[in-house]
Amino acid sequence: MSYFTEAGSEAAVLARLAECRNPRLEQVMTSAVRHLHAFVKEVEPSMEEWMLAIQFLTRTGQICDDKRQEWILLSDTLGVSMLVETINHRATGGATEQTVLGPFHVAGAPVLPLGANICRDGRGVPCVVRGRVVGVDGRPLPGALLDVWQTSEDGFYDIQQPGIQPEGNLRGRFRTAADGSYWFVTVKPCSYPIPTDGPVGELLAGMGRHPYRPAHIHIIAGAEGFAPVTTHIFVSGDPYLDSDAVFGVKESLIREFVEVTDHTQAARWGVTAPSWTTEFEIRLRPAAVERAAE
Ligand code: BEZ
Ligand code: FE
Repeated sequence: MSYFTEAGSEAAVLARLAECRNPRLEQVMTSAVRHLHAFVKEVEPSMEEWMLAIQFLTRTGQICDDKRQEWILLSDTLGVSMLVETINHRATGGATEQTVLGPFHVAGAPVLPLGANICRDGRGVPCVVRGRVVGVDGRPLPGALLDVWQTSEDGFYDIQQPGIQPEGNLRGRFRTAADGSYWFVTVKPCSYPIPTDGPVGELLAGMGRHPYRPAHIHIIAGAEGFAPVTTHIFVSGDPYLDSDAVFGVKESLIREFVEVTDHTQAARWGVTAPSWTTEFEIRLRPAAVERAAE
């Protein structure tokens, strides 16, 4: 029998795990207690600081609802989401790299014909995104499904601006053609700040960090028998590529966006010059390979 002491704090708590019947929970809680106690011993918070932390965590939970997930935002801005993502997708096997899903994906966007424009309010500079979905062996994947979404030229997703942007603005799903190719029209993405009107925004400001993400287009790509990939296309030259607020940038996902000044070429894509275009090939690995790697 041992009572609580500063030196033996960790051991006192870990002893209470003796009856835990779930080995994974025991492992997780043992590690959590060890790291938490080491953290407190290193920082030695005052009672006021400890209460400030409790209030921060309370407010982080209170601001969450079915549209706002401040806990994920906290995990994102501390690099934890990308660490979990990276640990779970260590071996890409030549497939397109993963990055964060983010809180603004909406399931069930309409499936549109190839070449459709996902911009529903006519604002922003048109941008034609073209590419193919292939296996890691280079074999084209016809009928692969791409789910794409991005912000408006003001840096907001439609669900952040109900009544200002049309519902479903800058969202759509596309199926690749027989040769694995896809193309759709959107607007050139811009860099934008993650939500800063909650506790995470206060924390970023307190740490002297900016809240910006570099310009990107979100894509989830999947095909029958292949592991889906949640990824982005990042715009080369964006000033925030090396300081993304959520650490989501991977070099392999950065693409040149080229200005289209040729009116004939623009017309062929159903847009007017000047517009922009970029190419992004998506490589998927067989689902069985993912299972074997786990
Ligand atoms: C996004 O890219 O939509 C995003 C990702 C993480 C946090 C906030 C926004
Ligand atoms: Fe985003």
